[in-house]
Amino acid sequence: MGRSIITTDMTNEDKVNDLNLRPQHFEDYIGQRKIKDNLRIYIDAAKQRGETLDHVLFYGPPGLGKTTLAGIIANEMGVKIKVTSGPAIDKPGDMASILTKLNEGDVLFIDEIHRLNRQVEEVLYPAMEDYAVDILIGKEAGARSIHMELPKFTLVGATTRAGLLSAPLRDRFGVVQKLEFYSPKELEEIINRSADVFGVKMDPTGAAEIARRSRGTPRLANRLLKRVRDFAQVKYDGIITEEVADYALDVLDVDKLGLDQNDRNYLEMIISKFKGGPVGIDTLAAALSEDAGTLEDVYEPYLLMNGLINRTPRGRVATENAYRHLGLAYQARLDV
Ligand SMILES: Nc1ncnc2c1ncn2[C@@H]1O[C@H](COP(=O)(O)OP(=O)(O)OP(=O)(O)O)[C@@H](O)[C@H]1O
Ligand SMILES: [Mg+2]
Repeated sequence: MGRSIITTDMTNEDKVNDLNLRPQHFEDYIGQRKIKDNLRIYIDAAKQRGETLDHVLFYGPPGLGKTTLAGIIANEMGVKIKVTSGPAIDKPGDMASILTKLNEGDVLFIDEIHRLNRQVEEVLYPAMEDYAVDILIGKEAGARSIHMELPKFTLVGATTRAGLLSAPLRDRFGVVQKLEFYSPKELEEIINRSADVFGVKMDPTGAAEIARRSRGTPRLANRLLKRVRDFAQVKYDGIITEEVADYALDVLDVDKLGLDQNDRNYLEMIISKFKGGPVGIDTLAAALSEDAGTLEDVYEPYLLMNGLINRTPRGRVATENAYRHLGLAYQARLDV
């Protein structure tokens, strides 16, 4: 499913946005109270003891602020961050080389950590546990392994697909935190802060309207803000009001709940092709030409949170809310 404006994945425009909008310290990082409170304690404790922070894993849907948190951890610890990603490291030697170049205390951030291959992962195990790597040099009969001590470092891993992480890797993280969707109030704060950064005038009703339609996701809130700003500038007098936001978001095909055409296709598929469900995830995925895991980790969490679908042992079911949201007649069923 190709997401348009509403994609929560990174786009090139986001990368430019990110430079100015990405919070650098906890004070600017809105929401995720529990995670912030915990991390602050772990960071303070580690600093008091003069130690490095334990390895941290963040998981949750795209655009909720995992990468941002990794940067904040490094800033708050007062250390450097080295950023890489699972698919970027394909040989054990590459992993070993990244690790041996770290300095004492550094944060190594591995995005999409579920995409590391097995051999690369195995280099990480002793690195995380004992701050050491065993590097194999030479071939066949002449091969020998050298043991190298590493500086103490903090691995910060991020994944949208926690279910794909191997147990041995997951178990080596001392701190594991799940990111939650943001409330409309929190998104409003983020939108107001971003509007300040962009220097765009915003009416509180405008911020509230964008917040309601941002799918609980800061990345989307910032992206919608930019688009609505364009409409405000060209079609209105530059100020983002509820009316402008409403108009622009309708044109952009983002509905009142923040769902886009793909979300609606998902719901309509369950309702029209599978009589509202239950339908097994694999069947549904095949019908939508989408990967089952992506449906589960990227599309469904927001629909579940909004009570539009239920996950039952027999499969996915569209709720009465889903019918109502799509303006379809709902008939209570006795068999689900
Ligand atoms: N708590 C927050 N407060 C303010 N802005 C935020 C917050 N979280 C995220 N953002 C904004 O949303 C953008 C996306 O966040 P980020 O890149 O950290 O998400 P992510 O979880 O790493 O996504 P992905 O899974 O796609 O890598 C950031 O550039 C930042 O501007
Ligand atoms: Mg990220």
